[in-house]
Amino acid sequence: MLDVELLTSAKVQDFIAMAHKRKMDALQVSTALNKAGFNNDERAAIMDYMALVPKFREKFFGATDGPNCDRFLLCDKLALEQSTAKDIGRWKSQLWPSDCNSTCNKVHDLCCGMGGDSFFIPSSLEVIGVDLDESRLAMYRYNNRIIRGEGAGKTLLADARTVNETSEGTCPADFFTIDPARRAVDGENQRDLRNLTPTFEEVCALAAHYKGGMAKLPPGYPTVEIPAKCELVYLGSHADCRECLVLFGDLAKNPGKVRAVMVGKDGETKALWWGDLDQIQAASNKDAEHDLPGCERSFRNATSESDLPVGELSQYLAEPTALLIRSHLFGNEALNSAPDAHLISEGIAYVTCESPLPSPAFANFKVIDHSEISTAAVRNMLKAHDIGKLTLKLRGVKLDPDAEIKRIKPKGKNSAVLFYTRFKGEKIAILAERI
Ligand SMILES: C[S@@+](CC[C@H](N)C(=O)[O-])C[C@H]1O[C@@H](n2cnc3c(N)ncnc32)[C@H](O)[C@@H]1O
Repeated sequence: MLDVELLTSAKVQDFIAMAHKRKMDALQVSTALNKAGFNNDERAAIMDYMALVPKFREKFFGATDGPNCDRFLLCDKLALEQSTAKDIGRWKSQLWPSDCNSTCNKVHDLCCGMGGDSFFIPSSLEVIGVDLDESRLAMYRYNNRIIRGEGAGKTLLADARTVNETSEGTCPADFFTIDPARRAVDGENQRDLRNLTPTFEEVCALAAHYKGGMAKLPPGYPTVEIPAKCELVYLGSHADCRECLVLFGDLAKNPGKVRAVMVGKDGETKALWWGDLDQIQAASNKDAEHDLPGCERSFRNATSESDLPVGELSQYLAEPTALLIRSHLFGNEALNSAPDAHLISEGIAYVTCESPLPSPAFANFKVIDHSEISTAAVRNMLKAHDIGKLTLKLRGVKLDPDAEIKRIKPKGKNSAVLFYTRFKGEKIAILAERI
């Protein structure tokens, strides 16, 4: 159980600030805590918490936060890992209504955890954290007072699924945000994206009790389950897709539409792509058909169906950014810029054409050569182009890239990127240079 009183005490927070300033190592910290009179359990709790301090500061505060950068939040390792970071939180702040008045301004942060989804909700809205775990609520109260100000941090110990049906006299709300927990039950398949608590079906049912809201789902959540009247937003950065956000009711300003948004570190929109929900639902349905024998889920995770035709390998190979793969929007985007854009294998998210595709939607590579995937063929190809330094990218082929590079032992002056992927379903090695 989290020792809230201990970790939020001035004595402990002053100690941590001093230890960080003096760059004390673990032994020095433990000795100093012992000297200061903390018992074994307290020392362990303080040291575990200390390791999280730089992580939560990086996740929630930035250079523009001035003195707030040095503040303390209350969390444990899991709550911090599960929380929504400031870049995504700030971006989402624009989705809330700006014309609220005192009779319509309450938000339930359902499954609130340590509070990441509340921190950046506009101050015109009153936010109430709802969770079934008392220690998460303690984190929520403490953290929201730090970030949103003294009056913030109201909580309800209640079930997200029913709180707005039964909250008569407590705290009924107009809007909601929900971030379901990923269920962790021994023996169950942890990679099953539908394994959420509450389930998405329950989220849709609870949404009927609010004017509008948003639900955070894992990026690969099956889009076929999203109701047609919702709006879908894929959020991430240059390198990743971090969440699939479903907007309900008054917050779904573009029902039936899909957006993929590349978010900058201060929550600004760096790039934006639009599509239609019914189109990507059709595409993600087809995705499920691309399980190849022996490739299990790693194959499927790296794929995304699109409307592009399959053809020969052209001069350029383009890798769509994670956001465009997850949102199934890369096919549209490729065709908008290059009418000859096509795939080299069904269900593999590499696009090929005779010209590079626009950045940041795609990373482009100029094809140098290709071979079958066998030790001799790949070594000969690398030797012919004098390649000694390799980056190995896999899509549709399952092996350990570091072990493979060690095994091939490339020797040469040049560097290149080697793709192990599929051409019309068969394995192929493609040698290319990043442009
Ligand atoms: C992924 S975490 C939320 C993280 C949070 N959005 C953040 O940014 O810090 C999920 C939370 O859901 C809570 N939870 C799970 N089922 C719940 C339910 N039926 N009602 C309320 N809370 C629930 C868990 O206790 C956990 O704190």
